[in-house]
Amino acid sequence: MGMRGFLVISNSARTSSDFSLNDLPGAGRMDVMCRCVNSVFLTSHGMRKDATAYLLLLGPPDPPKLIRMEGSELKYLGPDERNIGGLIRKALGVKVERGERMTSPGIYVSKIHLEELFEMLSDEWDIYYLREDGEDIRNVGLEDGSLFVLGDQNGLTEDQERIVEKFAKATVSVSPLSLHSDHCIIIAHAELDRRSHDEGSSA
Ligand SMILES: C[S@@+](CC[C@H](N)C(=O)[O-])C[C@H]1O[C@@H](n2cnc3c(N)ncnc32)[C@H](O)[C@@H]1O
Repeated sequence: MGMRGFLVISNSARTSSDFSLNDLPGAGRMDVMCRCVNSVFLTSHGMRKDATAYLLLLGPPDPPKLIRMEGSELKYLGPDERNIGGLIRKALGVKVERGERMTSPGIYVSKIHLEELFEMLSDEWDIYYLREDGEDIRNVGLEDGSLFVLGDQNGLTEDQERIVEKFAKATVSVSPLSLHSDHCIIIAHAELDRRSHDEGSSA
């Protein structure tokens, strides 16, 4: 487990491998998931090894599918959407009923429902729900072990929000504007980067 986690919940992203890397938007906006993965792990010339990404895909034909990616174990992660889409597609092509299966170094697939997932995550992480009208991230005392939950291009449903709010320590906003999910991830990272840098320089 990394020291920072991001869970992106997509109600539309396809849950089988029968999609084209030339049309990621047509696979239930898989392009949005690919950009989120880029934002979780990639810096200008490096990789955030302390990060974990969870993608909960709930589109047709075989929901739910959870893809977990561990920065400390990942290999072959390129910045472009086709490369990331290829890794996701490979994970979705592996048959899984119980437990979790590794599909590439650092990439795991499983079948788990939202509430069960949160029960598992809340043992490991301090959970924060990212939403436009939340508390300003600059006023929230975040520590290592924070996991941020985001919606897709359409946000979460009310039922999903009720579950997230049951497990979240707080609802947090990164900007007064409504932003793309991948951009919110970059801002949350930057806030944590600032804090660890400030702590380092005052030590
Ligand atoms: C494109 S937005 C979804 C917008 C959608 N129309 C809605 O109302 O939920 C995708 C996700 O990014 C996150 N998000 C967007 N803007 C945010 C902000 N200013 N602060 C925190 N999270 C934000 C939320 O988790 C949201 O579900």
